Amino acid sequence: MQYGDCVKSKPLLLLNITQLLTMRSAPRGPRRGASLSDLGIIQDAAVLCLAGKIVSVGTTKDALRDPWLKKSHKKVTDIDCRGRVVLPGFVDSHTHPVFVHPRLVDFENRIPGANYEEIAEAGGGIRSSIDGVRKASKTALTQKVSLVLADLASHGTTTLEAKSGYGLNLESELKSLEAIRAAAREWPGTVVPTFLGAHAVPPEYRGRSQEYVDLICNEMMPPIAKRKLARFVDVFCDRGAFSAAEAAQIFTAAEKHGLAVRAHIGQLSETRLGSLLRYQPASLDHMDHVNDADLPALARSDTVATFVPGANYFLGLSKYPDARRFIESGVAVALATDYNPGSSPMLSMAMAMSLACTHMKMSPAEAIAAATINGAWALRLADRKGSVEPGKDADLAVFAASDYREIPYWFGANRCALTIMNGVPSGRLPS
Ligand code: NIG
Ligand code: FE
Repeated sequence: MQYGDCVKSKPLLLLNITQLLTMRSAPRGPRRGASLSDLGIIQDAAVLCLAGKIVSVGTTKDALRDPWLKKSHKKVTDIDCRGRVVLPGFVDSHTHPVFVHPRLVDFENRIPGANYEEIAEAGGGIRSSIDGVRKASKTALTQKVSLVLADLASHGTTTLEAKSGYGLNLESELKSLEAIRAAAREWPGTVVPTFLGAHAVPPEYRGRSQEYVDLICNEMMPPIAKRKLARFVDVFCDRGAFSAAEAAQIFTAAEKHGLAVRAHIGQLSETRLGSLLRYQPASLDHMDHVNDADLPALARSDTVATFVPGANYFLGLSKYPDARRFIESGVAVALATDYNPGSSPMLSMAMAMSLACTHMKMSPAEAIAAATINGAWALRLADRKGSVEPGKDADLAVFAASDYREIPYWFGANRCALTIMNGVPSGRLPS
């Protein structure tokens, strides 16, 4: 059976689940240290979803004894999850879906040895994606984003953060955020929009980055905040992009406009975190180059360190962020795809988890917590997302597996059989 519109408003009962990873939360705040490994597993489990919310979670036996269910079972769509693992839908807290063309020339040029920065200096990189976005209509961009959302959902993602950042002028940043909003309205999952005007200095401002930063703060941010087109403001704070002082100016403006902040940091070079932590960013992402001395302050904060190993993989790097150093220091860590045309054209959170296990020495359990509940913390949505608990949104991923470790183990294959987003199922359960 194809699940879709026909069962949109019906109550759902997932039953006979071989392993249910509830991720039910004991600690206050994001998972850290040993609590990252606590998946709250229930075997032979059931989950009842009503009106887009999870209403009960337990064993199949207990669910079938429930008086309400006995009375109303005819109205409920059963989904048999024998031989399946069910977990909270992935929360992909870092994506760049608003672009037009893949960057195939960059991809090819990297093979004989050019690196990310050399490619950007030679006319490739982020700036080479600007033209496509500036010339595209809002409708065309919306269609692009919609395709990405459908693809992400088919891989088990039910919530994602979506950044602008390839328009880089007022008109095209607004158009990008409007495309995110229009696509999100048609999708049953949840999209958190982020304004990333500070992704690169566009060519017309070359050598005048301060003027461009002023434009971001004074011309772009006010209408974006007023029209609630973004929840977060992001800055690519790194060598060749924006400095820590420029990031601080942008964060100060974001604060003034009531927008929360996050940053790309430490991808190419080390930046000290102190000046940024003052703005209580929801997340600092990449984190390949971080000074050890900054880890205690990061661990004391609720800022999540989000790793995006797809970018390391696709850029052909041999080094990955040192996840163990962060986890052992008590830093809250998340995983995301960083879906984008330059450094990580990867849709699969399962693949991000696989890379985290094989290259960053995270255990499968830690990777699952990082891809679900801690992703939700990185988007400040943990009250609604990231775990399977009564009262939370009915966001679930059903995998063709009987042990959760299979999710990162079977790399390069999509074993997500069904995704449920705010109670709406999408996909096909294999027979
Ligand atoms: O997260 N580092 C900056 N931004 C993206 C890359 C974007 C691009 O190359 O188009 C990243 O890796
Ligand atoms: Fe990114």
